[in-house]
Amino acid sequence: GKVRAPTHIVSTISDDRGEEPCYAGIPMSTIIEQGYGIGDVISLLWFKRSLPRYCTQFIEMCIILCADHGPCISGAHNAIITARAGKDLVSCLVSGLLTIGPRFGGAIDDAAKYFKDAYDRGLSVYEFVEGMKRKGIRVPGIGHRIKRGDNRDKRVEVLQNYGRTHFPSVKYMEYAVQVETYTLSKSNNLVLNVDGAIGSLFLDLLAGSGMFTKPEIDEIIQIGYLNGLFVLARSIGLIGHTFDQKRLKQPLYRHPWEDVLYTK
Ligand code: ACO
Ligand code: LMR
Repeated sequence: GKVRAPTHIVSTISDDRGEEPCYAGIPMSTIIEQGYGIGDVISLLWFKRSLPRYCTQFIEMCIILCADHGPCISGAHNAIITARAGKDLVSCLVSGLLTIGPRFGGAIDDAAKYFKDAYDRGLSVYEFVEGMKRKGIRVPGIGHRIKRGDNRDKRVEVLQNYGRTHFPSVKYMEYAVQVETYTLSKSNNLVLNVDGAIGSLFLDLLAGSGMFTKPEIDEIIQIGYLNGLFVLARSIGLIGHTFDQKRLKQPLYRHPWEDVLYTK
């Protein structure tokens, strides 16, 4: 009989062996004919299933809203400096991407993890925030360098309005809003930021869509899928900044001495 040789790689999301490639079993021609969007493609390749329209639209909103935030943020700054050093597109892109992490853009998974844990354990926002303070952990998804209680982040409002209108439940998002009300009472800079808004709303998407089991939700957060949304989105802006610098023929960047405190 046939002897099956052991394989070195296991893969479950796509297949290019047939007449046309398939994403999670769906042929490319169907994807095009049915007018699937980026949200659908992310659903297939990341979550291995077709998600309802309100979910894929939410994913697309996250991509659009996080695509760029000007030249001054860490990622764009790195991409700009790298472009001005004459490096290629991929170098500029990864240089920017490498700044995404716990302080900048990469707090979505941790926000989801901590909000979920606190909500599911029935912690009051007081118990949650003060508990984090005791542990010396900044609440992921809270705080911003320039946004304030009286200068809120429009992206957060847009996402929250969408969730309230289209999601069956927004219990995690409302919990995050209560956390923000409490943290704002402590300091005006402790707003719910875009990472926190996406993290809490994605919990509602995962739990409320009926498309994921509880272990699957835990695995998604534990592996860290949600930061992928920011990484993917911001790549659009980082590529844009790279092209911009090259188009403008900007010279090598050197930081001015006057802006450095030289001290012993
Ligand atoms: N939880 C608790 N306390 C906080 C938090 C937080 N999330 N953020 C700031 N603080 C406190 C700090 O302890 C600090 O007080 P201290 O000096 O007495 O210790 C004070 O507020 C610092 O305020 P800022 O100077 O306005 O904040 P900073 O510039 O240091 O940090 C940052 C901004 C990095 C976003 C911070 O709020 C943070 O770490 N948040 C959690 C991570 C996060 O959500 N990052 C994503 C931001 S959105 C984005 O990047 C797209
Ligand atoms: C962003 O989306 O990059 C910002 O929220 C971060 C910032 O400091 O503006």
